[in-house]
Parts: sequence; C-alpha cells; structure tokens
Amino acid sequence: MTRILTVPTQPIDGQKPGTSGLRKKTKIFMGPHYLENFTQSVFDAIGGVQDKILILGGDGRYFNDRAVQVILRMAAANGAARMIVGQGGLLSTPAASNLIRKLGADGGIILSASHNPGGIDEDFGMKFNGANGGPAPESVTDLIFTRTQELTEYRILEGADLDLSVIGETEMGGMAVEIVDPVADYAQLMGELFDFDLIRNLFIGGFRMRFDAMHAVTGPYATAILEGILGAPKGTVVNGTPSPDFGGGHPDPNPVWAADLMQAMFGKDAPDFGAASDGDGDRNMIVGRGIYVTPSDSLAVLAANAHLAPAYKKGLAGIARSMPTSRAADRVAEKLGIECHETPTGWKFFGNLLDAGRVTICGEESAGTGSDHVREKDGLWAVLLWLNILARRIEPVEQIMSAHWAEFGRNYYSRHDYEAVPSERANALIQRLRDISADLPGQQFQGLTVEQADDFAYHDPVDGSVSANQGIRIGFTDGSRVVLRLSGTGTEGATLRVYLERYEADPARHGLPVEEALAPVIAAAEEIALIREFTGRAQPDVTT
Ligand code: G1P
Ligand code: ZN
Repeated sequence: MTRILTVPTQPIDGQKPGTSGLRKKTKIFMGPHYLENFTQSVFDAIGGVQDKILILGGDGRYFNDRAVQVILRMAAANGAARMIVGQGGLLSTPAASNLIRKLGADGGIILSASHNPGGIDEDFGMKFNGANGGPAPESVTDLIFTRTQELTEYRILEGADLDLSVIGETEMGGMAVEIVDPVADYAQLMGELFDFDLIRNLFIGGFRMRFDAMHAVTGPYATAILEGILGAPKGTVVNGTPSPDFGGGHPDPNPVWAADLMQAMFGKDAPDFGAASDGDGDRNMIVGRGIYVTPSDSLAVLAANAHLAPAYKKGLAGIARSMPTSRAADRVAEKLGIECHETPTGWKFFGNLLDAGRVTICGEESAGTGSDHVREKDGLWAVLLWLNILARRIEPVEQIMSAHWAEFGRNYYSRHDYEAVPSERANALIQRLRDISADLPGQQFQGLTVEQADDFAYHDPVDGSVSANQGIRIGFTDGSRVVLRLSGTGTEGATLRVYLERYEADPARHGLPVEEALAPVIAAAEEIALIREFTGRAQPDVTT
C-alpha cells in the first residue's frame, strides 16, 4: 500500500543556488526534511511536475543512492508521469543533459557537487536542468530560492525503495520509472560526433593513453568508450570505479589534484596522451607527454582544429568563453572570422548562445569545454575531440601546442585561489576595486599601463538580460590582464580567484616558465588589489 503524505515543514536556509545548483555539506542535505524541502521547492518553481517526464541521476557520491529514492517518491507524490533514472542512480552531467534532449524530457535533476570531495563530512549537491538540457537559468534558480523561503509542506509517497540495479521499466505509485544504462546513449552520441574508426586505428598503431577517472562517474563511460569501443588497451582507464568518497580524493582534474597523472605524463616512459575528468564528468584535463595544456589553451586548440572531426567539419558558428578564461580563443575566432562571446562564469550563460546557433564551442578556464551537442560542459567529449585531432594530425601534443602558439601567439595564464577568506574581507576587496576602477585607466603598475577596468556586466545578446557584478577586469595596454572575482561554488567563507594573463606574440619567448612570464602581472595585481592586506595571506592556497 502506498500513501501520499503531505508533510508540514518550515522554510529552509536554501541559500541562493550558485553557478551550478545548490551545494552544501552532505550532513546538511541529510538533515531532517532538507533534501525534501529543496526538492519540493524545485518542483514548485518549475510549475509542478504533474504529468512531466524527468531524468534523474548523480555522480555516485555519498548519499546519492538515498537521495534518488527520496526524489523518486516525491516525484510520484507530485504526479510526475515518468522518471528516467540511470542504473544504480548514476548519470554523468553531460549524459543527463543528452538524455533530457534525446528523450524530450521536461528537465532533469542531477545529484552532484561536481569536483568537490564526497563523503558524509564532505559535500553534496543538487541541480536542476531544463528541457534544453542545460542548467536552469537565473530566473528559475531565483524562483527556487524564493520557494525555499516560504515552503510550508511537501508531498512524498510512503513506500519501499525501488531496486535501481536492474535495467527496465517499473512503477511507483502510478508513476513510470525507467531504469536505463547510463552509458549507452552517451556513447552512441560520441560515435556520431567523432571518427571512431580513425581513433581505433590510432590505438592499433600503438598510441598509448592514460585516462584518470578519479574514482568518479566517468569511470564507466571512459572504460566502455575508450577500452571497449575504441580498443585502447586494458588499464588505459585508471581509478575507473566510482566510489562514494572518490577514493578519499578530490575529484578535480587539475595538476594539483591529479598529481599522479601529471607524474605519469612527465615521468619516464610516459604515454602519448593523458586526460582526467571530475566528479560528475563535465570537466576535463589534458596533458601531453611532458606538457600540460591549460583549459584556456585547450579551448583555443579545439576550436582551431574542430573541423578535423566529422561533427564540426563544416566549421564553427562561433566561440564563447567565460570572462576569466584567457583570450587565446578570441584570436582563433578572429582568424576564422566567426563570432566570439565573453560570458560570465558558469555554464548556464552559454545556453542561449548555443540554442540560438550563435556559437558551436564553449569553454571555461576551470577545465570545462563543450559544444552544441549537449547543454553542459563535457569532459569525455573534450578528450575524444583531442583524440580525433591527434588521430588526424599524427603529431605529439607538444608539437601541436608550439605550432598553435607560433600561429596565434601564446596567452600565458594562471589562476590563484585564496580559499576560506572571511566573507567581509573578500567583499571589501572587491568593493574597493569596483570603487576605484574608473580611475585606473592610464595609471602604471610594475611597468604595465592600465587600458581598461570595470566590474563585468554581461548583456545577453539573445534575450537581452543583464547580469551585473560578474568580476573585476583590469586590462593593460600590452594585452596582459588581471581578473578578480569571488567564487560562487565554495561552501566555506569566500574564495577569491585571481586570474592572470599575459600575451606573447614572439615564438622565441613561448618557452618561458609560466610564473616567470606572469611575474609582472602578478606584481601589478598585488599592487592594485592589495590582496595580501585584505586576505591576510602571503600567497594563494592553490595555483593552477
Ligand atoms: C567554478 C568555476 C566555473 C564553473 C563552476 C561550476 O565556479 O570557476 O567556471 O562554471 O565552478 O563548475 P566558481 O567557484 O569560480 O564560482
Ligand atoms: Zn563537474
């Protein structure tokens, strides 16, 4: 017997969902009625789920399995027609986006805190994606937030858990529940975009790769596609079994957290190509033998070479990058004579441009790259596009990079993060820059002359909406740039991100150590923003 319960409840400290849904400590999500209240707020904010079809899955982190059962019972009690769930409650973020689009669902719920660690004492998260497969726009996340502040009851079905391990269709309180292979549709899509025969031949020819799934959700995807379909040798995928605490690690694909991969790629007998992905599979890291490719450079190289893959052989409509991402991609767009857009941080800002067909490829400096094939960034997609390019060019990654820099110039780039800074101090630092930005142009710092400075406001060219206060941009006359903004995804105090960039046209100067190339820009950033004084820190916590 199933019964629908209407549970009286209290508004929650819902906190405005940031750039990618709501992230909280797992124990908060596990607290009395918290997940339920947030889920009901999402349902209410989208006009209820009566007769709707939703996709549901997560990255397998701690509490994923329990949360899926609760959300299913609530969807049933709220009258949803059908829930399509990844087997075992798993779905990578890009795979969920694909399923929403492919199956014509009304949207989807993805359980993840992305690259944040998982576990009972770590982070959990939930995000809602709309019918286009992309993250909910600000108008919807605002409604969700408002709803969390006024909710007085939620609806849930009483009943037993569903067995999510068996693929097939079942039922819960009159709602259809379809349990699907999380990998199959995604793998099929990748096969349509890329020349799998060519990549297969690359592996037959002895090309060696190491893909580090970081104990997260891309393990099953990478194993099925790389080792299964493309015939890469067994063992190409490492850390390929998703675990609730990501093997105790930080599933964040960058040189700091994927140190093992870096070591392998810079060590003796390094493979030809290395890659990693994050908790929910939307981020990527690219490393060649002895060379790390920054996400900003990767975006530029992918854009310049995308035509080598079947899906993009007619060329790109345009390129978009988030504001702090280096301007390497802009130079590619300029040469190709295509549109180039600078958007605020967060994948959702690419949605309108992609939907309108204005851009084909997008990327963020934070290891997110993607295209119009879904409405999320897509880690494995980026890796497969690289493989397709490598299979066509038959050149080492290092050579591809130096040729790219010789053609377009090199944008040296680094990001400095100051974590868990008291919020008042971080806010004061940004506020001061806002106040002085109009006076900066023309002033000199460490030999660099400020050309332009502002707090970035984005005017969406598709729907005309304006997103203000997106971060301080300080551009110098020599093409260098400093960007400062506060993270929207941290869970403790404020995280100050300082993005540093310097353009170098001369190929004779493309081999400098990054810190050396950026030294004047780093010093200018300190002089202008007084980072040490405001944060009380002598140096950044993380440099990527
Ligand atoms: C970070 C990244 C941003 C990305 C977001 C979600 O946000 O910087 O590019 O879209 O995670 O993965 P932030 O913490 O900087 O607000
Ligand atoms: Zn992610």
